[in-house]
Amino acid sequence: MLKIGIIGGSGLNEIPGLTRLREETVNTPYGEPSGGYLIAGAGFPPVEVVFLPRHGARHDIAPHKVNYRANIWGMKSLGVERILGINAVGGIDPGLPPGSIVIADQVMDFTCGARQSTFYDGKEVVHVDFTEPYCPELRGALLEAARKEGSPVTASGAYVCTNGPRLETRAEIEFFGRAGGHVVGMTGMPEAVLARELGLCYAAVAIVTNAAAGVLGAHRLTTTEVVETMAQKTESIKTILKAAFPLIPAERHCPCKDALREARL
Ligand code: HPA
Repeated sequence: MLKIGIIGGSGLNEIPGLTRLREETVNTPYGEPSGGYLIAGAGFPPVEVVFLPRHGARHDIAPHKVNYRANIWGMKSLGVERILGINAVGGIDPGLPPGSIVIADQVMDFTCGARQSTFYDGKEVVHVDFTEPYCPELRGALLEAARKEGSPVTASGAYVCTNGPRLETRAEIEFFGRAGGHVVGMTGMPEAVLARELGLCYAAVAIVTNAAAGVLGAHRLTTTEVVETMAQKTESIKTILKAAFPLIPAERHCPCKDALREARL
């Protein structure tokens, strides 16, 4: 059966409407994942959804403290080949007001080496290609699902990842915008590259929960705004995800599974 991993972000600690089957605890060589993996059934044709709340079931793991390696490794060890990451983001592009949903196609990583961001820090030297950071097949399914459901989404955009946990300064956001960034969050990386290093497919659904720092002038950013906007968008996210499941083919036709080909020195 098709298994789809979902890593939920701020304000998305569960996906209502899925039939909860069981919870799996996974031990990994990289330590503990953010919690147990919730296994649920959904859809027709049937799919198995493996859900992990990134910040823990009680939302007590900050973005810079998430064990991204354990989370992704755990997904793979449960037989997941496709992962969808759900991320709350700030809108850098003034054309992306709160409530916008972006299926990003690029990433800029400004976590600056502060996170464990590779599985290859031992003897083996591996450089995976990351020209296209997201799986084209998963992105295609998400976009087609949104179109079918009449849910407006922005079909491309560059996700800027900062280390946090503080929010950005006005100057940083202005810089990211000039550099070509559209949205900013704290969790998109290294999640995406770790999936690639294991040959897994990964795509992200970014929900704009607030205008990024300075975009609305002196507007002060609050986590209340982030959580409230995320709560308002839960239904739309669920609708898009559910519509995407049957559009994901059982066999992978994308380049993700071959990520390690000619990547070793
Ligand atoms: N910046 C960084 N991360 C975020 C933001 C933001 O404005 N909103 C939600 N996550």
